Formats: sequence, structure tokens, C-alpha cells
Amino acid sequence: MTKKILLFCDPGIDDSLAIMYCILDPEIELVGIVASYGNVSKDQATANAAYLLELAGRSDIPVIPGASMPVKEEVMIYYPEIHGKNGIGPIQPPNNFQFQVYPFDTIRSIIEKYKHELIIVDTGRSTTLATVFTIFPDQIKMVNSFYVMGGAFFVPGNASALAEANFYGDPTSSNFVLNYAHNLTITPLNVTQHAVITQDIVDAVSENGGNFYSFMLDPIFKYYFDFYKKSVPGIPGAPMHDLLTIMVVKNPSLVDYIYYDATVIEGTEAKGMSYIDYRPTSKRGKTKIAVKLHYDAFIEEFKRIML
Ligand code: BDR
Ligand code: CA
Repeated sequence: MTKKILLFCDPGIDDSLAIMYCILDPEIELVGIVASYGNVSKDQATANAAYLLELAGRSDIPVIPGASMPVKEEVMIYYPEIHGKNGIGPIQPPNNFQFQVYPFDTIRSIIEKYKHELIIVDTGRSTTLATVFTIFPDQIKMVNSFYVMGGAFFVPGNASALAEANFYGDPTSSNFVLNYAHNLTITPLNVTQHAVITQDIVDAVSENGGNFYSFMLDPIFKYYFDFYKKSVPGIPGAPMHDLLTIMVVKNPSLVDYIYYDATVIEGTEAKGMSYIDYRPTSKRGKTKIAVKLHYDAFIEEFKRIML
């Protein structure tokens, strides 16, 4: 059965790869995109999502603007040095690009339509998804499962020494999602940082030219990889955090898991840091936390869809 996915995201290069994967995999039905602030502003993220859909002739998929800022943080931080000024590296929607957006209530209609078949994936800051829990409390219970890219366990962060960017952006909302989402899987930085795509794989996809996005993969990759070469010296490729998160929905065995309850620290110097009680006798929890990536299987899956 196809996986029906409602994607919350902030495209963003790795979010863009996640969208491409959803579009290109015939076993995934992307039923909507909710675009919010994060890597770029909400408006830019929304335009980027709509543009990626249009390139594939899939403007029938609703794009819903989400949050434009976190619930508590006053300073907005975007990441042009990682994702480009407009979020998809050097690629951007044309100046006169027109697209339709859908109201927030569309999320309620989508949940009511697909009910327990619906899978929610969040690859951005947690603000919008947390808001959905508060606005549509009855509907959100109908959702089958949740997948979230966020956190960093046993490894340094990326937005700060301790925190991963999605949980750093709005730790209050991240805690809310971690507490209330049922059937929740998270793919934190400790795993996604190993989900690297290398230049040789990008070359193979570009030469093959077999999909709507082949033309943009190389420039996007180069932009993103340039940042990572500087920030993680010696890294062999660029980590596709959000792409891995989507892949795991269909291919759970790409990673190994542990089961714990995770917490995000709010409002101190350690803001955004995620932790679990990992002492030998601590009790196990409800969240499925990815801890190890099977790299060869990840690359095989990437080629299977993108080539
Ligand atoms: C996460 O932060 C964002 O910048 C990326 O798109 C990804 O979702 C990685 O920490
Ligand atoms: Ca993202």
C-alpha cells in the first residue's frame, strides 16, 4: 500500500531532496506540504515547496503556509550559508512565479480524509506541528504515525555545541511534539549526519537525467557540500538529514533504534539540547530513536529512486 505522507518542512536543500523523493517514489503519495520558517522565511519556504511541485507537474498537491516564527524565541535565525539565500542553493523560483496556497484548515481536512492511513513527517522546526496538536486535538489522534528529524544524542549539535537545528529553533514546541505525538520515530543528527550523498552519486544522477529534478541536483549539492566541507573538515559528502527521515517511513530497516522518552532543554545555555535517560537501569520509553545508519542500504535506496 502506498504511504500517504503530509510533510511539514522548511525547504532548505535537504528538505528539497525529501520532497523530490516523495514525488519520485511511486510507493509514496504526498498528500500535502506544510511550509514554515526555519532554514529560510515562511514565505520563501512556501514558494520553494510550490516550485518543486510545479517542476514535477504536481501543483495539484496542496501547499499550506505554516508558522512564521517560534513560540518563545525572539531572534529569528535563517541559514543562507548552508541552504542559499533563497533556500535551494543557487536555484530559485522565477521572479514572476505564481502559485496557489491553501488555508491552515486544509490540514484538518487532510487528516479527516486519510485518518489512520496518514503519516505525518516533520523535517523543520516543530512550531507548526505543535500548533496542529492544539488546534485539531481530535483529528490529530486519528493520524497513523509521526516521523521527526530532530535532536542529537551522544554527539555534538549543529546549531550550537549541544543542539541540533530543528530542536534548537523552537525547543518548547519540540518538547510538545515529543510528549504528545503517538507512534513517534525520530531521526536525530547522530544518524542523519552519516546519510551523506557524494559527488560521484550526484554525477550519476545528473548524467542519467531521468527525472524532473536531475538538472538541479549538481548545483544544489555543490552549494550544500561547500558549507559542509568547511564546517566538518574531511566529510566525504553532504548529509541529507531530511531525506533520510522520509526514507525511513518506507524503509524502517535503514536504521537501528532504541526506545526512550526524549526531552529538549528550553531557555538556558543548553537550549535545544536533546537527551534521554540512558543510565543502565533507566526505564525504556515510547519514542523510537534512530541510532545507527546502514549506509550502503541508504545509498542503494537513493539511487533506486533518483536514477
Ligand atoms: C535540520 O536542520 C535544517 O537546517 C535541515 O533542513 C534539517 O532539517 C538538520 O539539523
Ligand atoms: Ca529541514
